[in-house]
Amino acid sequence: MTFNTLSFETGADDVGLLKISRAKALNALNKELLDELMTFIEKVKQENTLRCLIITGEGDKSFVAGADIKEMQNMSPEQGKTLSNRGQEIFNAIEQLPIPVIACVNGFALGGGMELVLACDFVISSDKAKYGLPEVSLGLIPGYGGTQRLARSIGVHRAKMMTFTGGIYSAQELYEWGLISKLVAHDALLEETMKTASLVAQRAPVAIAKAKESINAMRDLSLEDGLKMEQNCFAQLFSTEDYTIGLDAFIEKKKPVFSGK
Ligand code: CAA
Repeated sequence: MTFNTLSFETGADDVGLLKISRAKALNALNKELLDELMTFIEKVKQENTLRCLIITGEGDKSFVAGADIKEMQNMSPEQGKTLSNRGQEIFNAIEQLPIPVIACVNGFALGGGMELVLACDFVISSDKAKYGLPEVSLGLIPGYGGTQRLARSIGVHRAKMMTFTGGIYSAQELYEWGLISKLVAHDALLEETMKTASLVAQRAPVAIAKAKESINAMRDLSLEDGLKMEQNCFAQLFSTEDYTIGLDAFIEKKKPVFSGK
């Protein structure tokens, strides 16, 4: 896959590394980038060869500095709605991928960049990264899912404080508030993220997909319905090859090598 605004490579254990690559604009999400991101996500889903995907930003300074502000000038409400719809569609597609997606946050994660982080399954962050939803400083609000996903992650009151101040918050703060799962020294970020991704990639892929489906559904279901969904996902795994491989390996004291079936 070759793109103008993304770079991609596959490493050991079928871990994919996607870099958002518009460093001259601090990796801001312009139309071309959004289109390429959607094409990329659709391909990942269709080819079904990766076991884990890492998303990071090119360069040392920024993960993604938001939607492209220059492209948003002079838009009508209809154009604003189309833009929001497009961003939400792409971030939903990331959230719904059957493989784990790790945000590897190397710098500014602002506006749409913070919203991209929120669509990932978990976050490994540089201690130098900075987070924020500065949209109200532009006369706007977060439009790629930020008003919905942030409160579900760090709680309503912190989400409101971040959104209403439009301020920039440290990685340490977001770690304490539960958005960041692992906070690492800036220079060790990629290596540490790769290690975690490798671990995930060696586990049973269908089991991970079912765990992701079940945890994601939690947000929209009552506890009762969520528990039923968990039962169904759990039960379906008993028909997989990986379940046999996993249990046999445990009993034979071997390392399981999962087939993904
Ligand atoms: N869109 C377009 N270009 C951007 C950009 C963005 N979101 N963020 C940075 N850039 C560009 C700058 O215009 C600049 O380009 P030029 O060299 O051509 O002038 C280049 O990237 C470098 O940026 P700075 O010179 O500003 O770098 P800095 O280190 O002084 O500041 C920053 C860094 C604090 C991140 C600052 O660039 C900034 O505030 N960026 C905007 C952040 C923002 O408001 N994001 C939210 C966007 S709206 C949104 O995302 C809506 C939504 O929910 C969908």
